[in-house]
Amino acid sequence: MSEPIEVLRAENLVVRFPVGGRGRWIVPVDNINLTIHQAESVGIVGESGSGKTTLGRTLVRILEPAKGRLHWHTHDVAHIRGRALRHYHAAVQMVFQDPFASLNPARTVFDQVALPVRCHRRMSGAAQADRVESLLDQVGLSPARDLREKYPHELSGGQRQRVAIARALAADPQIIVADEPVSMLDVSIRAGILQLLTELKEQLALSFVFITHDLASARYFSTRIGVMYAGQLVEMATAADITRRPLHPYTRLLMAASPGSGMKAPLPETTQGSPDLSAQRRGCPFAPRCPLVMDRCRQATVEFRWLADQHGVACLRSEE
Ligand SMILES: Nc1ncnc2c1ncn2[C@@H]1O[C@H](COP(=O)(O)OP(=O)(O)O)[C@@H](O)[C@H]1O
Ligand SMILES: [Mg+2]
Repeated sequence: MSEPIEVLRAENLVVRFPVGGRGRWIVPVDNINLTIHQAESVGIVGESGSGKTTLGRTLVRILEPAKGRLHWHTHDVAHIRGRALRHYHAAVQMVFQDPFASLNPARTVFDQVALPVRCHRRMSGAAQADRVESLLDQVGLSPARDLREKYPHELSGGQRQRVAIARALAADPQIIVADEPVSMLDVSIRAGILQLLTELKEQLALSFVFITHDLASARYFSTRIGVMYAGQLVEMATAADITRRPLHPYTRLLMAASPGSGMKAPLPETTQGSPDLSAQRRGCPFAPRCPLVMDRCRQATVEFRWLADQHGVACLRSEE
């Protein structure tokens, strides 16, 4: 097999937000290292409030990181602006969780998709219309003629998400960051959207960052999976290794809690409801909930370590 081609690499990425004044911060992206290769899908899994959306928005540079680097091919795009940023925005697209909120309610299906076609390519009106139709066709919205004059409220949730995907494809992206793309859809139509994303990945050699709170769909759609907890990547491995040899206690609990695991082990509750993202916290972020916690876990900074070629973990237990 040939070496995978790297398209995007986050290095020690940090994103923080001020909260409640008085110099307090939360750090939803806390020193994250992540590489995306051509034509692969990297799953990012973690419960609500672990910083997945913030990471996704930073990878597409809707947000600017406070620290770290974001290498796209040979450029560091962490702080680019203006033309360079517009160029990057075309290449790295995001599909959001809520297709209704991400579409303009006052624009027809045709116009939603035509806008980025016009922005990113110079072509005649007729060529634009052809391009829009072929994009709608590509995402399974056919016959496009019947749908092109409809407004978002006239579509089903699945159709709306397909429009959002067509719009993302209009710019000929290299990477799509899909943030919980099926979690707001009816269970009955989720598989169809995941199937579509799989086909697009294969046909267009697109790379995906697939953000989800659901380990099962990450396993279905991803070659490698990163597990996020409280802004940190706590484990990264191939989808097969995450399933067969999960190393981090959090990953094991996620596995046990996912449907079809045969085990019924709920995650231990947090005291404050969601993972502690405060800049002041010390030690392993999972320590307050960890069934294997040791005294050291509450003080020591836990480094992410690669144990094998593609399997890394941030857990003191893994060093024993
Ligand atoms: N623009 C923002 N300003 C302040 N806090 C934010 C902002 N965006 C997200 N957050 C906070 O960051 C934390 C992580 O959120 P998010 O990245 O959405 O996590 P997830 O997608 O895993 O649920 C949450 O506590 C959220 O309230
Ligand atoms: Mg989110």
